[in-house]
Amino acid sequence: MQIIHTTKQAREFVWNLRRNDSTVGLVPTMGALHDGHLSLVQASGRRCDHTVATIFVNPTQFAPGEDLQKYPRTLDADIAGLRSAGADAVFIPDQDQIYPPGCSTFVKPPDVAETLEGEFRPTHFQGVCTIVLKLFHLLPTTHAFFGEKDFQQLCVIQAMVRDLDVDIEIVPCPIVRDPDGLAMSSRNRYLNDRQRQRALCLSAALRQAEQAYLGGEQNPKTIENQMRSILSGDDQNNGVDSIDYAAVVDSKTLQPISDLDQPAVALIAARVGSTRLIDNRVLCAR
Ligand code: PAJ
Repeated sequence: MQIIHTTKQAREFVWNLRRNDSTVGLVPTMGALHDGHLSLVQASGRRCDHTVATIFVNPTQFAPGEDLQKYPRTLDADIAGLRSAGADAVFIPDQDQIYPPGCSTFVKPPDVAETLEGEFRPTHFQGVCTIVLKLFHLLPTTHAFFGEKDFQQLCVIQAMVRDLDVDIEIVPCPIVRDPDGLAMSSRNRYLNDRQRQRALCLSAALRQAEQAYLGGEQNPKTIENQMRSILSGDDQNNGVDSIDYAAVVDSKTLQPISDLDQPAVALIAARVGSTRLIDNRVLCAR
């Protein structure tokens, strides 16, 4: 597996792979890789002739006071994981390669970025759109793989690619969970044992949302209230420390809906200690 540090090398490497009409999949990450990330690399391996991953903790998607400084960095293990998952190369740029002094252009995110995460992290998707569009230009691949774990991010990137005519196919990949249901996340490393236990109420609330939906519940508000009640905990389980949102919304626009006769998704953002966790479940008939 090639390890690439400069933008010039990155572009050349991808164009070389694309000779002979080969397909190339891109897997952008911020490192601290787990099996969720590696599942994207494997999905790319099944779908494309070649796979290039990126590791870059993108400062522009963190607001002041968020966890940019303490974001976990596990580079050696990441490289080993990518190699065993079958990546052909990993691009690991320095901050100066991506944002040289004087860099002042940003992408204005699409409408679908405005709700949910957009309300609680108002500058986040501007940073995500900017880095992802830059990566699409620096590594001009035919496909790019994104996890449904960050459901709104996936919607935002799909809208950006459509609106800005980017010539790339976005491939959504399912959420990978630990056996007990917790969605894998680099930020799970911040949790101690007790907090990790409490974090399970996110996936429990989403399971309840799905059960209610499959049981015929038509009112999104009823499901939102049930999710909040599970997130708040009980005598056995203390629940989360705070809830940013627990919402059932249209799965395309992420706008509120008044009944569940259209494709919907349940999404949660909540804090356990100082760790902010997100998870979601698409509500659809089995
Ligand atoms: P990061 O959080 O490292 O995630 C990289 C990719 O892995 C994203 O597409 C994310 O949805 C996916 N992923 C994370 N956990 C997953 C899980 N449990 N199951 C399946 N996929 C999972 O998302 C980012 O980085 C950044 O915003 C980035 C797109 C790289 C731009 O900086």
